[in-house]
Parts: sequence; C-alpha cells; structure tokens
Amino acid sequence: MNIRVFDSDESLAAKAAATIFELIIRKPNALIALATGHTPTATYEHLVKLIRKSKVSVSDLSFVALDEWVGLSPDTEGSCAAYLNQHLFEPLQIAPDLIRLFDALSPDLLSECLKTDNFIHAKGGIDLIVLGLGLNGHLGFNEPGTKPSYSHIVELDEMTRTVGQKYFRTNVKIEKGITLGLKSILESRRVLLLANGAHKSEIVGAVITSGTVPEIPATILHQHPACDFMLDREAAALVETRR
Ligand code: GLP
Repeated sequence: MNIRVFDSDESLAAKAAATIFELIIRKPNALIALATGHTPTATYEHLVKLIRKSKVSVSDLSFVALDEWVGLSPDTEGSCAAYLNQHLFEPLQIAPDLIRLFDALSPDLLSECLKTDNFIHAKGGIDLIVLGLGLNGHLGFNEPGTKPSYSHIVELDEMTRTVGQKYFRTNVKIEKGITLGLKSILESRRVLLLANGAHKSEIVGAVITSGTVPEIPATILHQHPACDFMLDREAAALVETRR
C-alpha cells in the first residue's frame, strides 16, 4: 500500500484525476470501476476537465459501477447510477453499452451480480478501480465481516444505513446493497483509494496500522500489489503518529 498525503482535497483530486487520465492515454480501451459518494466528486470534475481539454477520445473506454442501493431507480437522486450519470457519463457522453450499472430494481438481483461479473470478465478485467472508504471500513458495500467474493447482495450495516441518508433529500429506506466483491477489488490491476476530511482520520488510521482483518474490509488492500491510498491532510491526521 502506497500512502500519499496531499495538502488539500483539491490537490488530491487533481492527482487522482491525472492518474486516471494517464491510464486512458496508455490504454484507450481500459475498464474503469467507479465509486460514488462525496469523496470522489472533485476527482471526477478534474477528470472531465482533463479529457475535454485534451480532446482525447473516450469512446473505447468501459466503466463499471462499484455498488448500488437495492430498491432505488437509476434516476433517484442519491443513487449511485444517478451520481455517475451526472458526474461522468453524461458530461463525457459515454455510450450506454460501455457502462455496467447494477439494476437495483431487478427482481433477479443474483443475475445482476452475474451480469456485472461477466461484463468485467468480457472486458479482460478491471484496469483501475476508484474506491472511497466507509466510516466502518467498508469498500463499496463490502461491510465488516464480509468474506472475499465477486459481486453480491448485502444486508447493510447499521452505520451504512445511517450515514447513507446524507445522499438523499428525504428519508429513504436503505437496507440492502449490491456491490462488487473484495475479490473483484483485489483482482483490479490498480487501486486508488481516496479519503478526505477529518471524519475519515480514525478509520484511515485503523486501516493503515492494522493487518488484514475481516472486521475492517479495507485492510484487504494491504494484499494488493498496486494500491495507492490517497489522503488529504485531515484524513491522514492519525497516520503519521500511528505508523
Ligand atoms: C458509501 C458507498 C461507498 C463509498 C463510501 C464512502 O456508502 N457504498 O462506495 O465509497 O460509502 O462514501 P463517502 O465518499 O460519501 O464518504
């Protein structure tokens, strides 16, 4: 795990976007997996600007969403699909057949998992995955105690249900999630885990100083050979003292 601390969220986002952009230049048909949440928004804004400025073609890229709240339609504000459409796919005009989003309204969620895993397989694997970090150490919706697997359906942790309300204007019932698994994350060729803000400092410190334990899913990233942990100063506050 390569720990990189940035002076601000702005510089973190600029570097994360530049790293994704370098991959796009090097591999125009890359498959990129994307987290949602508040953390990566500035990174995606930078990425859209970089792509527009360079006029590089993104027509061969493919994307897969990291996760989704079960029961939400893609046009529900606060859903992962709505977020990715708004922040990346619409501004970049990505063709729908190059995007794999979990259909969280499907009556057959298991087949949604399979479709996502097959999409990843057909594209030759994930080249780069952007991850955020849950306050309970989750990655996507791989909650504490999750065993490494591929895409699956999850009973959400209490903390995730409570914290998750921040994405919605009204109270939304969120009990289950559908997510890429820890195996899909570990098999990605490159991982960028982003964390910003003082509220993430405790969990960031715990992840970095702990060995791999199922209680803190993000600790599995210690096993990844090409994982950058990109932190702003606030999120990294406990890193130096605990290392
Ligand atoms: C959410 C999502 C994750 C996200 C994480 C952090 O619940 N399931 O994909 O990365 O928690 O969210 P945020 O960036 O808003 O802190």
